[in-house]
Amino acid sequence: MTDWTAGYMADIDYTYGYYAELNPQRIKLAFLSAGLQPPDVQTACELGFGQGVSINLNAAASNVQWYGTDFNPSQALFAQELADASGAQAHLFDQSFEQFCRRDDLPPFDFIALHGIWSWINDENRQIIVEFIERQLKVGGVLYISYNTQPGWASMVPMRELLAEHTRVLGAPGHAIGGRIDDALEFATRLLDTDPLFAKANPLVKQKVEQLKKKNRNYVAHEYFNHDWAPMSFTQMADWLAPAKLNFACSANYLDHIDIVNLSPEQQALLDSLPEGNYRQMVRDFIINQPFRKDYWVKGGRKLTSLQQTQQLRQQAVLLISSPEYMDLKLSGMLGQADLNKDVYEPFIELMGDFKPRTLAEIETSLPQLSFSQIQQAVMVLITKNDLMAVADNTGDAGPPCRALNQHIANLSHSMSEFEFNASPVVGGGFALSRFEQLFIQARQQGHKTPAEWANAVWPLLEAQNQRLLNEGKTLENAQENISMLTRHAEILSRKWPLLKTLELVD
Ligand SMILES: C[S@@+](CC[C@H](N)C(=O)[O-])C[C@H]1O[C@@H](n2cnc3c(N)ncnc32)[C@H](O)[C@@H]1O
Repeated sequence: MTDWTAGYMADIDYTYGYYAELNPQRIKLAFLSAGLQPPDVQTACELGFGQGVSINLNAAASNVQWYGTDFNPSQALFAQELADASGAQAHLFDQSFEQFCRRDDLPPFDFIALHGIWSWINDENRQIIVEFIERQLKVGGVLYISYNTQPGWASMVPMRELLAEHTRVLGAPGHAIGGRIDDALEFATRLLDTDPLFAKANPLVKQKVEQLKKKNRNYVAHEYFNHDWAPMSFTQMADWLAPAKLNFACSANYLDHIDIVNLSPEQQALLDSLPEGNYRQMVRDFIINQPFRKDYWVKGGRKLTSLQQTQQLRQQAVLLISSPEYMDLKLSGMLGQADLNKDVYEPFIELMGDFKPRTLAEIETSLPQLSFSQIQQAVMVLITKNDLMAVADNTGDAGPPCRALNQHIANLSHSMSEFEFNASPVVGGGFALSRFEQLFIQARQQGHKTPAEWANAVWPLLEAQNQRLLNEGKTLENAQENISMLTRHAEILSRKWPLLKTLELVD
């Protein structure tokens, strides 16, 4: 391990995910639902941006000026190449938190974001970050922070220590981290197979270890095998952030805003009997056995009157992103799966099924049979289910940087399959598109007209790399079978064209 890592797992690169919570656009509906004034985000900062997927898509798709750092130089380089490709306002560094947070050339920020960082760094770095937030976050500014939470991790804390210790004590020196992780998981399975009393007292641990074995090794390495790893309770987090004058605003996970699918009436009544504040959050975490929180904190938040709240909500536009025929009317919460009210959701989906953005006020006018609170709840539910997205209002002239970045991503996708997002100026951030979808769109831009032509244009790329498609788990060996399967994927994409046009992902 090299010495710039401060104990961080840097031997294996991080994944290429896009996390919607890092998009400042997402704050608006969460804050409005909680009755808080959302900030107008012009400047933003991400600490520990990983491969830089989120920060680059968000920078390309809006007029927000982004700053960020990640001390892993190969990841920072990848991220800087994305920024160069888009030409967007993203100032990306390969400095440690300590170096970056000491810079005196950074602007004050409306939004500071850390995803997947806080639980995996030491107290010294936590202190540096809190002091940075205290200095650099504007009054009214928002912090987004995610972290492993107690009590959800209670039974896995000793198991994770056992796994990490195995790689340290028994891991073969010189053996790559992926192999050492496999060995540790294998050993944990052997231990659990002996029916130790620990497994009897913590019956879910065995299942969790089995799930871990199936996960992407890069993710597992970063989640479990760091030197530092500390889940903490909500109250401990509040204590850490108090010196930066931050108060809890609301959850960034929209599902948390829908109590009816998460809390029984008794649990809700118990929470309602408590004063508003941090203790209530802690009790809620016990009720749902919370393992991971994704929260917004605010420096001096302002409560809205209910009139101001509804006025601002009415102005928000949303866009359906799933085809109505593939949508189910179910929502999974902590209490299990709930059926959505057909009288609300069917007309809502039918109206939005033309993939045109509409404000909540327009939806209200078109669906007079629904109350405004039903419309508002449907919006939160459908965003949670990934069927709907909020339309951004701070995108400026984000079309050209998005097009340039998406072209670069498609070029990367010639040979890599992990980068499965494009930048859309309409939603002000990332939109999920698989590798094949990106390649088909590129083929179409190059003049190939029909899905069959797109498939024929993409196949030589795969063939040259000895890559084959699968059908029901079986590898398709000959060219014709592969091209037919590609054509089927291309036809599915062609049906999404009206949506892709609205998102400005195609011409
Ligand atoms: C789990 S990853 C999360 C990446 C990104 N936020 C995301 O969610 O995709 C944590 C990242 O923090 C970076 N990191 C950890 N400690 C750091 C430090 N002291 N200074 C700068 N970056 C750090 C790592 O290199 C890694 O890319």
